[in-house]
Amino acid sequence: MRILLVGKTGQVGRELIRALPAVGDIVGTDRAQLDLADFQAIRRVIREARADVIVNAAAYTAVDRAEREPELAMTVNGGAPGVIAEEAKRLGALLVHYSTDYVFDGNKTTPYAEEDPTGPLNVYGSSKLSGEAAIRSSGCRYLILRTSWIYGPHGSNFLLTIARRALAGEDLRVVADQTGVPTTSAFVADVTAQIIGKGTPGSGVYHAVPEGQTTWFDFACAIVDGLGAKVRVTPIKSEEFRAPAKRPRYSVLDNSKIRKDLNIIPQQWDAHLRQCLLESRRNI
Ligand SMILES: NC(=O)c1ccc[n+]([C@@H]2O[C@H](COP(=O)([O-])OP(=O)(O)OC[C@H]3O[C@@H](n4cnc5c(N)ncnc54)[C@H](OP(=O)(O)O)[C@@H]3O)[C@@H](O)[C@H]2O)c1
Repeated sequence: MRILLVGKTGQVGRELIRALPAVGDIVGTDRAQLDLADFQAIRRVIREARADVIVNAAAYTAVDRAEREPELAMTVNGGAPGVIAEEAKRLGALLVHYSTDYVFDGNKTTPYAEEDPTGPLNVYGSSKLSGEAAIRSSGCRYLILRTSWIYGPHGSNFLLTIARRALAGEDLRVVADQTGVPTTSAFVADVTAQIIGKGTPGSGVYHAVPEGQTTWFDFACAIVDGLGAKVRVTPIKSEEFRAPAKRPRYSVLDNSKIRKDLNIIPQQWDAHLRQCLLESRRNI
């Protein structure tokens, strides 16, 4: 099986480079080889690659900056996935794409199922939702894996930021009124490889997150404890953090569909954290 991986340098992209060779031959692209803002280039690269599966791990992921750059966020997250999907349809390829918990408004108090109504609160969430809609209406075979709060040993993420500051002896103030599911980039890549390897079910949206839920504050405390750092972690409200983009207060994704339909058994989120801390030590 030939797999085209778009976005090989991101958190998930890097883990896919590790996980996907077990299921196929990968050709990966970085931004220099394929800029998702260039729709002609998307068509050219996909036609040349003639892959059986296209995995799109590239996205405009700067949630706060997207409030200032809505057109670019919409082009990369909303427009480009539609072009990729049209090309996938033309080739008869399967498209695997990632989306986010930020498509939801956060007003629920129980985990969001795949078919729950969406209602993004920020530009990033709206742009990702547009990408989902474009893929769904393209007529290609697709899997959209919605995930949340991604972190890992590489890139720019909450784990590395908190860990570096804690080990530098800095006291921390962390938002305690947003609840979600921290998810390692490795988990997302492993789920992707499992699904592709098994032969995919019909097209659809799936929530790919570990078990359990937490707040950013408790997540930070677990990181600090895991490192044995002796710093104070103070809970604050979202308003005090003053981020440009509004976030949902509750964006826990219900993973029962990947359990039932895809036979994937996720572990608790903090078991993944312990493993990731071991792997991240040299990057902190
Ligand atoms: N991060 C999260 O917390 C989170 C949560 C839920 C869902 N997701 C979704 O999960 C997927 C993977 O996210 P991630 O955390 O792995 O993202 P990431 O680490 O921020 O990586 C993003 C990747 O996209 C590439 N990229 C950005 N703009 C591009 C452009 N115009 N053309 C080509 N490539 C471009 C980046 O290239 P450079 O290396 O050149 O910048 C990088 O390879 C995305 O679909 C994201 O929306 C992420």
